[in-house]
Amino acid sequence: MTEPLRIALAGLGTVGAGVIRLIDANGELIARRAGRPIEVVAVSARDRAKDRGVDITRFDWVDDTAELARHPRADVVVELVGGSDGPALALARASLAGGKSFVTANKAMIAHHGLELANAAETAGLALKFEAAVAGGVPVIKGLREGAAANEIARVYGILNGTCNFILSKMEAEGRDFADILAEAQRLGYAEADPSFDIDGVDAAHKLSILASLAFGTQPAFEQVAIAGVRHILAADIAEAAALGYRVRLLGLSEANGHGLFQRVHPHLVPLSHPLAHVTGSTNAVVAEGNFVGRLLFQGAGAGDGPTASAVVADLIDIARGEFGPPYAMPAAALAQPGAADTGERIGRAYVRFTVADKVGVLAEIAAAMRDAGVSIESLMQRGASADGSVLVAIVTHEGPERAVAQALDKLRGSSSLTGEPMWMHILG
Ligand SMILES: NC(=O)c1ccc[n+]([C@@H]2O[C@H](COP(=O)([O-])OP(=O)(O)OC[C@H]3O[C@@H](n4cnc5c(N)ncnc54)[C@H](OP(=O)(O)O)[C@@H]3O)[C@@H](O)[C@H]2O)c1
Repeated sequence: MTEPLRIALAGLGTVGAGVIRLIDANGELIARRAGRPIEVVAVSARDRAKDRGVDITRFDWVDDTAELARHPRADVVVELVGGSDGPALALARASLAGGKSFVTANKAMIAHHGLELANAAETAGLALKFEAAVAGGVPVIKGLREGAAANEIARVYGILNGTCNFILSKMEAEGRDFADILAEAQRLGYAEADPSFDIDGVDAAHKLSILASLAFGTQPAFEQVAIAGVRHILAADIAEAAALGYRVRLLGLSEANGHGLFQRVHPHLVPLSHPLAHVTGSTNAVVAEGNFVGRLLFQGAGAGDGPTASAVVADLIDIARGEFGPPYAMPAAALAQPGAADTGERIGRAYVRFTVADKVGVLAEIAAAMRDAGVSIESLMQRGASADGSVLVAIVTHEGPERAVAQALDKLRGSSSLTGEPMWMHILG
């Protein structure tokens, strides 16, 4: 058998320790598949003494993570530290500049700096791979880069954050409120102590911007993603959606057309007839619509040590085989630079929920704002007063331009009849 592929591993947390465990468990099989063994030779993290459940004494310990880029025996650097900048980015730059291929699970870094790193890798003839950065163990990057490479993709969308999906499906199953379930998710370790990246949609937006580049051959444009999270969804929204035949899901959705690149992470109402409505718990799922292959659905565990390590090691197997092309499925220099599409032009149906004071004339005020903006109402539901005396009014619109709904909401903003911010969810068409 030929020389092993030698790895320098930065980060020994959930995923880093998972990679060591996976290589220990499946090393022989991996060597047969890759044509050569994959061997960790050096590791780095903050605390050398921490018990990680795996024996790291057999590897070189490197105090300064950046030094892994210069490790004399390593062919590839694997970064599992995290963070868009800081030590992760410094290591990525130094590794590619120093002639080592680079594998990461770091969506934040790839969303912000992927183009720069892809240029560096291509110029040096090295691999830059990040399968684990989107949907954890689900091979969606491979799916788009390779399996669907012959297709023009009309749109790509999906459930990209397991924490949000866990919370939404539990709210749905148990009828409990968001804050209550979030606290439980934190206790169970499904949500971070500071959950804002997840629940405010930023993590899903990182992943969406990576998928959009792969699907549409466009430069990564994370700053153009319109983002709203799940914090303000009420148990009543979920019950209302269910009564209408929908489930509430946080979707990242991207399309590229003559109007530019559209990228949005927002809560959606997903019809029960759609497979994404049935994705529950912390599972991730991505749909890509290709002009020859049709609708593809990628689904599986979006996080966790095993699934994420599985994706990281799949990247290493590719490198061991010498099978790697441009990180974004086409040379970085060929990626188009589209402007952001005007979301107001989009046509769709919407669910808008208001919390309003229990007084005469409120419904008429909402209906008038909708009428004046040209929004056609398909149905309107009103539910009795809650503990604070507010009444819920939920509207489903007919198909129409999003600009009209935005105008109606602008008009109502500041109205003394509203007791809270309206909740606007798009209905997946
Ligand atoms: N967890 C998942 O399920 C999952 C899924 C997909 C992608 N990812 C991505 O994978 C990456 C790693 O995630 P994780 O969950 O494994 O994180 P984690 O459990 O917090 O582990 C992070 C590791 O990085 C080390 N580290 C942190 N700051 C460092 C620094 N300044 N210098 C050197 N080492 C440092 C830590 O060292 P100590 O252990 O010594 O403190 C720890 O070993 C992130 O980019 C994450 O977004 C994770």
